[in-house]
Amino acid sequence: MCGIVGYVGKRDAADVLMDGLSKLEYRGYDSAGIAVFENEVIKVAKSKGRLADLQAKMDQDGKPSGHAGIGHTRWATHGEPSDRNSHPHGGGNVTLVHNGIIENYKKLKEFLLAKGRNFESDTDTEVIAQLLDYYYEENHGNPIEAIVKTLKELEGSYALGVVFADFPDRVFALRKESPLIVGIGEGESFIASDVTAILQYTKNYYLLEPGEIAVLSKQEAKVYDLHYQKVEKELKTADWDVSAAEKGGYEHYMLKEIHEQPESIKKTITPRIENGLPNLEECGITPERLMQFNKIHIVACGTAMHAGMVGKYVIEKLAKISVNVDIASEFRYREPLVSEKDLVIIISQSGETADSLAALRLSKQLGAKTLAIVNAKGSSIAREADMLIYTHAGPEIAVASTKAYMVQIAVMYLFAFELALANKKIDEAECRRLTALLQGTPDQISKILEHKEMTQMIASELITADSLLYIGRGLDYALSMEGSLKLKEISYIHSESYAAGELKHGTISLITEEMPVIAVATQQNLFDKTISNIKEVKARGAKVILVSRDSYQPEKDVADFKFGLPEYEDLLMPMLAVVPLQLIAYYTAVLKGTDVDKPRNLAKSVTVE
Ligand code: G6P
Repeated sequence: MCGIVGYVGKRDAADVLMDGLSKLEYRGYDSAGIAVFENEVIKVAKSKGRLADLQAKMDQDGKPSGHAGIGHTRWATHGEPSDRNSHPHGGGNVTLVHNGIIENYKKLKEFLLAKGRNFESDTDTEVIAQLLDYYYEENHGNPIEAIVKTLKELEGSYALGVVFADFPDRVFALRKESPLIVGIGEGESFIASDVTAILQYTKNYYLLEPGEIAVLSKQEAKVYDLHYQKVEKELKTADWDVSAAEKGGYEHYMLKEIHEQPESIKKTITPRIENGLPNLEECGITPERLMQFNKIHIVACGTAMHAGMVGKYVIEKLAKISVNVDIASEFRYREPLVSEKDLVIIISQSGETADSLAALRLSKQLGAKTLAIVNAKGSSIAREADMLIYTHAGPEIAVASTKAYMVQIAVMYLFAFELALANKKIDEAECRRLTALLQGTPDQISKILEHKEMTQMIASELITADSLLYIGRGLDYALSMEGSLKLKEISYIHSESYAAGELKHGTISLITEEMPVIAVATQQNLFDKTISNIKEVKARGAKVILVSRDSYQPEKDVADFKFGLPEYEDLLMPMLAVVPLQLIAYYTAVLKGTDVDKPRNLAKSVTVE
């Protein structure tokens, strides 16, 4: 994980770097640091803790002042979070920042120790700095040759921003696996792990490929291959504007992103609907192609995997094709049974999750066709899949995913409708009806957002709980997994999701007055059965919070609190029901006073195994 930035230009480098890092803090936030050329000498400021801690340190000790430098926000892998282990790391002439993991760092460290080099930190990153400096000396001060030699030795993943003391007006950058873009401004150049870090200054950027080295100066950013040949890069333009990556008056990004969901759905589905029917041709998906698949595997991590769970229910119900949902880190090491006639769908907000990317590559090796559903444009998963559906949620900054999940499931629906039609499991009229209902979801969600007070009240009932359960059946169960994850990741209250019918096989023994239960009951064919399960926990003392349809008025023996949802088609209820679950998690975290947008120990983009 970790976020890196670099700058060369006319502005105050420390300010640009700190501003860029503030947009990348979602990638890790246990320490931060910058290195800036001040009067041609590299000055480093770094600190354990958040960017705010680094800022406080610089306010006290003075910030490095100059026009070129690099910066880093860290999610620790090798070496505990501490001042000493914070980036940048140096070795002689070289100072650098790193996102990724060097797998063979021990071997390289032994080699360097044997050459008489000393280390100041416990990190794998310092090994890169020392090795680079070692080759720099050996190559009589040629940075590119030193970089080429070094990267031949490195095993693992990296995006690196590097400065050499001898080149005070240059920043060097390279990557393998970990993402990195090169920003092109007027009289200034940038590097960043993600385009949101530079949007304030420029929307133009190059995607740096593995095996390319970028050399940034004030005038330009040149990209070379490993043979020192200049590479002509295609200039890309970000279609996200600065405000999309700011809070816009909301107290937290998470709340803002919850409110952006109706708009995100519209942006995602509208361009893929033609004459009232799904049309995914621009994504490489045609009815002829869809008819070829025997089986579908959906592979993802975290929230994206939960979106896959909803996808499974919808695809199996409508298209009658068997769907396996897998956690990417399990799939890739399980020798999965994937054949050439299978479709593997990888869902990922960032498009950079290491396990999901590895699962994609494995699926391709096994001969399956792959479809990526990805939010971040130009990300590795987006680039490597055979077919690609971008979700248009815009930048999602809060670590807890909300709008990205919403558009992932919106895409799952569109895909399932088209698949079912292609396989003649539904007729055109039914496909049209379902598509229109999907198009109607943004208005329903807006209505729910207008009446969210009840979620605040429910949150106030939850804050004293140590543990709680989410229960549901069918699509409600798939959804409750996401509700449970949202709550635990930001409020730090333990919670589990359970299939309501499975409770009596063990878990019901946990139920006491101290254990609130959040029950989701929107599916009419399962309604009576879910209500019976709810009564079972209620009878054992649990405080029950019910998320169900407006039309259902629960008796006292069913629920203590109820959040009512508008009447809508069963199949599409997850898109509506997830909203109160997100809000309940959000307000519980706010009431508990946790760091809602940056919960402890987490990072938004997990580029390590
Ligand atoms: C991290 C994030 C989760 C996210 C998961 C998968 O754990 O904290 O919110 O769901 O990674 O990320 P992806 O970018 O692949 O969707």
